[in-house]
Amino acid sequence: MRNVAIIGTGFHVPERVVTNDDLAKMMDTSDDWIRERSGIRERHWIAPGQTGRELAAAAARMALDDAGVEPDNIDMVICATVSSDCAFPGNGVLLQQDLGLGLIAALDVRTQCTGFVYSVATASAFIKSGQADTVLVVGTEVQSTALDLSDEGRDMAVLFGDGAGAVVIQATDGESDVLNSALHSQGEYCDALWCEMPSCNITGRIDAEVMAQKRHHPHMNGRLVFKHAVRRFSEAINEVLTAGGVAKEDLTLVIPHQANLRITEAVAKRFELAPEQVFSNIHKYGNTTAASIPIALAEAVREGRLKRGDLMVLVAFGSGFTWGANLIRW
Ligand code: UT7
Repeated sequence: MRNVAIIGTGFHVPERVVTNDDLAKMMDTSDDWIRERSGIRERHWIAPGQTGRELAAAAARMALDDAGVEPDNIDMVICATVSSDCAFPGNGVLLQQDLGLGLIAALDVRTQCTGFVYSVATASAFIKSGQADTVLVVGTEVQSTALDLSDEGRDMAVLFGDGAGAVVIQATDGESDVLNSALHSQGEYCDALWCEMPSCNITGRIDAEVMAQKRHHPHMNGRLVFKHAVRRFSEAINEVLTAGGVAKEDLTLVIPHQANLRITEAVAKRFELAPEQVFSNIHKYGNTTAASIPIALAEAVREGRLKRGDLMVLVAFGSGFTWGANLIRW
């Protein structure tokens, strides 16, 4: 069995910063409410003309540079996103083109906020089974264009941001490894956090009636999602620690999906994790769905929060419901 190492990280967010005060000019909300309920101070949104594929390619180039890997050496790309540039194909093939990658496998992963955790598990499985040597994994999202910026949509609109993060994962003879992963789903809650339209079940995929009903915007039962998120984050962390025979005290870092600072704090408290064991950057970026963990990982590395050999957990929960974790020896 081969080990796998994350050998490069990168991230990119659009230049346009949208503060809580900016949002208060668009809808009935306030800086106080957003900070108290979510910990978010600002987020980055694309400007007109910018595209998701640009964010993804910029993050990927940074990760390739960091890894010292030429695009020719990538033999698989995995792109986690719910917000591809077009209905099909997904952004994986757009990345293959933009980065000038060979005629390699391009796989899009659509497990929402859990997309990056599923993608790391998938990349690791491909490498360990000998089907790939060097995999580029990207989490990328443009959520801002889907949001309902009226008062009615304020519960969702204040939470989400745009951005991309990327890692290069490679086979290694060294100690680094994705030690194990836990992946779960529970479709009975699919409509507790979803964007129902466009849908293949209606002719034309979308129509005026659907738009008048605002069913093309994302909707969420916030309290239900919060409750399940805290429970499932904790279970997933426990599951990978138990499978790996690792005590929580031995973890250098937990990088949770950046959904809400209150969720992160509740999980840290339930788990009795010290503040320095938990990474948070939600105040700068909001919730960037599948991009949030790779952005956080790239920042954690640059802040010197990880050294080779450290144990780390990536953990996520989101729409589906889906949830999961990766236990990683850095
Ligand atoms: O990646 C996973 C995705 N999502 C999440 O993890 C989010 C999980 N849920 C949450 O983070 C929280 O439920 C929210 C931050 C979305 C909401 O916080 P809450 O404490 O659960 O608030 P609430 O939904 O119970 O709403 C409380 C009040 C309501 O007013 P009334 O009925 O008490 O008069 C809302 O209408 O806050 C109101 N409200 C707002 N007020 C100002 C909802 N959104 C806003 C807003 N600004 N943006």
